[in-house]
Amino acid sequence: MAKVLVIDDTPEYITMLTSLLCEYEVFAAKEGKKGLQLAEMVLPDLILLDINMPSMTGYEVCRRLKLVKKVRDIPVIFLTANEGSDFEEIGFKMGAVDYISKPFNATVLKARVKTHVDLYRLQSSLQEQVEEATQEILKLNHEITFISASIAEMKSKETGAHLRRVSEFCYLLAKFLGHDEAECEKIKMAAVLHDIGKVGIPDEILNKPEKLSLQEWEIMQTHSQLGYNMLFDSEFELMRLAAKMALEHHERWDGTGYPLEKKADDISMVGRICAIADVFDSLLDKRVYKEAWDEERVRDYFVAMSGVQFDPDITAVLLENFDMFIYTWKSLQRLRKSV
Ligand SMILES: [Fe+2]
Ligand SMILES: [Fe+2]
Repeated sequence: MAKVLVIDDTPEYITMLTSLLCEYEVFAAKEGKKGLQLAEMVLPDLILLDINMPSMTGYEVCRRLKLVKKVRDIPVIFLTANEGSDFEEIGFKMGAVDYISKPFNATVLKARVKTHVDLYRLQSSLQEQVEEATQEILKLNHEITFISASIAEMKSKETGAHLRRVSEFCYLLAKFLGHDEAECEKIKMAAVLHDIGKVGIPDEILNKPEKLSLQEWEIMQTHSQLGYNMLFDSEFELMRLAAKMALEHHERWDGTGYPLEKKADDISMVGRICAIADVFDSLLDKRVYKEAWDEERVRDYFVAMSGVQFDPDITAVLLENFDMFIYTWKSLQRLRKSV
């Protein structure tokens, strides 16, 4: 049953409207403050609002309703004995959808109430459907990204949970750098794919415990470009962001990285973030070609490489919050062991 809220200081009008609108669940308040509370509590499908009330006018009630997210879209119809287009104009400016003069014509009032209630309910249900579909797409997106990343994980023994940890560190760095939550989430998702190009690297190179020959090292380095080639022409922004990270996560601040020897700000922000997150995790982790480094050694490395290998501003963020990053690394390690 649709809900209608009546806010009117005249009890006779409340009684009359309640009996007229018998097909709705009618809630009523005799003054503005109570009406506002009731609106937030019952979330009606329509509000019939008297303009002339002693403690708070209908205009003020309407203004306050529009400030509250969960009630601001509920349609408001002003009720008043005032004559004249000025009152109507103010009402519409305040966000009302309609205007009914007292005394009411019962048939007209019922017809207008029905129109606005039906419209609002239709809008709300469409909005819900859109939100559900959006959530569904986001979940699917998440799922597909992780499946793609795990293909690269499976191939490379050393990668393990590396991709997930790097994506978490990218999220934290972006957060500390002041990016908003939606942006940080995007960076986090995109980072999962930074090593996707490793699917194109032969297993004997990818998992070779000894030092790679020069030729093997050159092949290994192609994973950045390969990853980029897989992702860059996607129609999805997330995948294009992932392409940037795949391409640039081995570039260095001083321009001696690969594949394009980009320098400083020429490397995108996400590329610079990913470079730090990637090395931070790789150093702490045991790899086929190296032992795990201890925390102090990792810290010293970042101090030494700030402005050389890494963006000094982002490195500063890592160093300022170093203990927190280490703690996160450890808790993600525990998570892996318990799986
Ligand atoms: Fe890589
Ligand atoms: Fe990596």
